[in-house]
Formats: sequence, C-alpha cells, structure tokens
Amino acid sequence: MAKKKIAVLTGAGVSAESGLATFRGSGGLWGEYDPQEVASIEGWYRNRKLVLGFYNQLRKQLSEAKPNAAHLAIAGLEKDYDVTVITQNVDNLHERAGSTRVLHLHGEATKVRPENGEYDRTYSEKEVIDVGYEPVNLGDLAPNGSQLRPHIVFFGEAVPNIEKAIDIVAGADVMLIVGTSLNVYPAAGLYRYAKNETPVYLIDPEDVAIYDPKITHIREVATKGMETFISKLKECIF
Ligand code: APR
Repeated sequence: MAKKKIAVLTGAGVSAESGLATFRGSGGLWGEYDPQEVASIEGWYRNRKLVLGFYNQLRKQLSEAKPNAAHLAIAGLEKDYDVTVITQNVDNLHERAGSTRVLHLHGEATKVRPENGEYDRTYSEKEVIDVGYEPVNLGDLAPNGSQLRPHIVFFGEAVPNIEKAIDIVAGADVMLIVGTSLNVYPAAGLYRYAKNETPVYLIDPEDVAIYDPKITHIREVATKGMETFISKLKECIF
C-alpha cells in the first residue's frame, strides 16, 4: 500500500532549540535588525555590504548549530510516511537531520548566486553556488562578472517555489506546521490548499497570527510537540 503523504511546513521555531534565533519572538532577529535593511531587495540595492555581512553572520552561526530532536523526528517520519518538508528557513538543519525532500521557500543561507543586473533578477539553478559557511563580500564576483548575492528570497521578491509547495499541500493526507508565526505570505496561506479531509496540526508554544478551527494547535515546543504529533498520527490515518 502506498505510504500516506505528510506535508510539513516549518519556520524559525523548529530551529530555536538548535540555538538559532527566530525573527519575531522575544530575542528575535527583527528586534535587532530592520528586515527592510538586511532582508529586502531595496536594502540590498541601498547597502550590499550590510546585507552581505548579515548573511555572513548567519552562515557562521549555522556552522555552529546542530539539528535538534524536532528536525530528527521530522526526518524519522520518512520511515513510515511519504514526507515533504516545505521550509521557510534558510538553514540546512532539515537536510543535516536526514530529511531527503526539503523545499526551501525563502532560499538557502549557504548558497549565493550572481546579481544579474538591477532589473533582470532571473537566474538559472546552475548559477547557484554553495559556499558552505564561508563569507561572501563585496567584490566577490560570479563567473559572469556580477556581484555574488545571497540565494535568499528577499522581502519584495517573488517566491519561485510556491506553486510546488501548493501542489505538495494539496496532495497531502496530513499537514503539520511547526514553529512559524504564520505572519508571512504566501507561506502562511499554504494550509488553505489542504483537502477538506486533511487534518492540519500546528506545533507552537505561542499563539500564531492565524486562528482557524481547522487547525489543531499542539501548544508545545517543537521537540516535545513532535512526540505528541507522532502519537496522534497513529490514531488519525490508520
Ligand atoms: N518550538 C516551536 N516553535 C517555537 C519555538 C520552539 N522551541 N520557539 C519559538 N517558536 C515559535 C514562535 O512562537 C513563533 O510562532 O516559532 C515561531 C517563529 O515565528 P517567526 O519568528 O515569525 O519566524 P517565521 O514564522 O519562520 O518567519 C517567517 O519571515 O522574516 C521572514 O523570511 C523570514 O522565513 C522567515 C519568515
């Protein structure tokens, strides 16, 4: 029998217990930096050096972080289920935990690509370079001679993988949302593409920006919430 499909949407909260800061909670990155300065396309054109420095720092933190029990539990679901992780995170902790199908909606911190001119922001996947945890600075150029920029979806840019993400959610038998405040679209609206009969679970210790009776809220941190979810999973699709 084909394995049941689980779509897992994650946000910064799933990496909180790995020591990576979230964005909007207390101690969140957007309390320290202005996202319009360091994570928007206008910020990039205003001050490339500042933006490059922000992602260099993020990459350095990432080199010191490890997947936590929640990442491992999500990867472990693959034993019995057909799992796709759709993540808003730019870290690589899902991959390092062993998840084999991870779709990044907002890009990846370890990757950069050429800045193909102010208005031509198209690029091909083969131009994307994985720099691991190394810094990238002003003057570091791509083979085509243009400045290397973070392979991140900045505020103000399109989310190229959103159509794929919608298809994954629409085809899921269960949807799990872990560690996102559901403030940022189009990611926050993804759960609405789940079939009516598809249960949607949310793991988050706090209230999130969306209230919907369809969503079963497991009010726990990710590592604990995953245990609760897995026990519920056995009940709901067997
Ligand atoms: N376990 C589970 N959830 C947690 C934990 C934890 N240990 N700690 C915090 N959280 C929850 C918070 O309660 C919050 O709801 O994680 C969520 C983090 O929300 P945000 O900081 O808004 O992060 P996220 O939702 O991922 O942001 C979405 O915004 O800035 C952009 O591109 C950036 O991808 C990011 C997007």
